[in-house]
Amino acid sequence: MVGKIVGTGRYVPNNVLTNEDLSKMVDTSDEWIVERTGIKTRYITEDDTTSSMAIKASVKAMEDSKVDPMDIDMIIVATLTPDVLVPSVSCYVQAHIGAKNAQCMDINSACTGFLMAYQIAQSYIESGSVKNALLIGAENLSAITDFTDRSNCIIFGDGAGACVLSPAEGRVISIMRTDGERGKVLEAESRTPKDWKEREEKKLTYIRMEGQEVFKFATKEVPNVINEILEKAEVKKEDLDYLILHQANKRIIDFIIKRLKIDPSKVPTNIARYGNTSAASIPLLIDEMNREGKFKNGQKLVIAGFGGGLSWGASYIEIK
Ligand code: COA
Repeated sequence: MVGKIVGTGRYVPNNVLTNEDLSKMVDTSDEWIVERTGIKTRYITEDDTTSSMAIKASVKAMEDSKVDPMDIDMIIVATLTPDVLVPSVSCYVQAHIGAKNAQCMDINSACTGFLMAYQIAQSYIESGSVKNALLIGAENLSAITDFTDRSNCIIFGDGAGACVLSPAEGRVISIMRTDGERGKVLEAESRTPKDWKEREEKKLTYIRMEGQEVFKFATKEVPNVINEILEKAEVKKEDLDYLILHQANKRIIDFIIKRLKIDPSKVPTNIARYGNTSAASIPLLIDEMNREGKFKNGQKLVIAGFGGGLSWGASYIEIK
């Protein structure tokens, strides 16, 4: 048995930040941002936190799944922006939805986090030790974004997406890679009360990214890992129904489409609206696709993620 997505949900804050708004904050323009990233708007928290967004997305996914919260055995939240260090965001979700029988954990693998959570849950479901799992990607990236740095603040947005997995016949094949030696190109140092002030002054609490290096990494490794997973699954890329990519940047997505020579209509995107929401981007997209009725049994799907770590990977999914 493998885990089939039986319910999805998403939540984004009400507060929309447009390129026009950003151009009043830093020296940039709608034209520049759209041309380099494909992003037009992003949602930014006001009163929400990572936990509150994770909870709101989870409630919708649970409703959609019709699974009883008492039958959820595992909750994994992928995030790099937990509200507090302990308890984990997954514990807040558990308490809110009343999933008393679930084991809970948060994982941080930056933008690859949701895919990693998905792969972990699949292993537990395949082994038989977990039946139903609730997976969430949630990020409050605006809390660690330097809104005076024009090369970074245009990219990121906040939000949460959630999926419920239940056992079904099918096959899921996964690859996950990490290269810590290249981690310096995308960093955000931790916030600790002791050196909070110094870190604030030096802006060490903020995301710092070498954009071009990240771009080169993604456009090389992601097509490679997708080709590798298709080879492992013995599936031709022409036979894929959908390639679901982490929504980092429209130019990266276009580059991957070009390198793979894949039909762009098979690669849905929503980056224009949400920006890069890190671990939340894949479940946000999956929820949109699900609610548009795009998923059917028998389809051949690939999910691919990449980001800080550096980390990247892909899963091939076929549910009977
Ligand atoms: N508006 C206007 N000009 C900007 C700008 C902005 N928001 N941000 C940077 N610039 C300027 C730079 O200052 C630089 O000016 P200069 O030539 O006078 O020095 C020029 O634009 C080019 O900067 P550069 O950093 O080389 O731009 P780029 O083409 O690499 O685009 C990114 C920057 C961040 C959009 C691009 O590198 C990228 O998409 N990287 C991947 C980021 C990503 O997806 N991260 C998440 C991975 S999970």
